[in-house]
Amino acid sequence: MRNILVIGAAGQIGSELVPYLRGIYGENNVIASDIVDNPMLSGSGPYAILNALDRVAMYDLVRKHHVDAVYNLVAVLSARGEADPMWAWNINMGSQINSLEIAREIKGAVFTPSSIGAFGHTTPPDNTPQDTVMRPSTIYGISKVTAEMLSDYYHLKYGVDARGLRYPGIISNVTLPGGGTTDYAVEIYYAALSKGSFVCNLSPGTFLDMMYMPDALKAAVQIMEADPSRLVHRNCFNVSAMSFEPEMIAAAIRKHIPDFRIEYSIDPIKQSIANSWPNQMDDSAAREEWDWEPEYDLETMTADMIDKLKVKLGA
Ligand code: SER
Repeated sequence: MRNILVIGAAGQIGSELVPYLRGIYGENNVIASDIVDNPMLSGSGPYAILNALDRVAMYDLVRKHHVDAVYNLVAVLSARGEADPMWAWNINMGSQINSLEIAREIKGAVFTPSSIGAFGHTTPPDNTPQDTVMRPSTIYGISKVTAEMLSDYYHLKYGVDARGLRYPGIISNVTLPGGGTTDYAVEIYYAALSKGSFVCNLSPGTFLDMMYMPDALKAAVQIMEADPSRLVHRNCFNVSAMSFEPEMIAAAIRKHIPDFRIEYSIDPIKQSIANSWPNQMDDSAAREEWDWEPEYDLETMTADMIDKLKVKLGA
């Protein structure tokens, strides 16, 4: 049985991963933490206010709860990071090195989400291989590639069980993402239900990999539970569930809301970031090494998003 510390737990992924992990490992064995409170998480199991840059405080928490695995969900995303690169670097790398250093001390495990943002303009954009050129042009991407390499380093040098996934854009209905380039694919559903129209900040034809949250949660646990003798890559696996561009998600929404309209007002920073990322990744290594298989595609995700958001928004 694992004792898990989740840092950055109050964000888009953590607010759903923590209940998911508590369902698997037991509510008292999953300690959620963030720099702010999250009443949903603090009401359902151990919760700590923690600045993930404070290694001493983090280590105290790890010892107090006999933690053996850290899930590092702390991240300043791609577009937000470009507004203050040094701040983003410090947060993304500080939380990562603290997680790895503490895992080294306790001989534990670390889960780190990497991203499609770890790729760049010189990466092959179609069927992007597992092992390929990685020269990102955002501070977010640079921090994610560095985190991948540090995770490998801590595994090779110190035996830390550091594993990770290159997530695509994640679509969810509990907590909104913030500051990401793929955020439009979440916001479009809220706008469709509340206004019947959406102004998209990426241009038609911008293909990006995406995944529905239930698959993202399943992948995080599956990689951490995977048989280590089968893992060739460890850090860090391409995982995808679908690839679409804005007109395709609009068409999927129109099957439920026929009058839905999409307009465009391009954000040049987000567009240039999106243009540097893959259109669609090859995730066959994850499929071969730990049986990755997503459940949701664009149509089934859209039906579920609309059902859930109708209830949430009272639409
Ligand atoms: N969703 C992230 C972003 O758009 C990518 O990992 O920044």
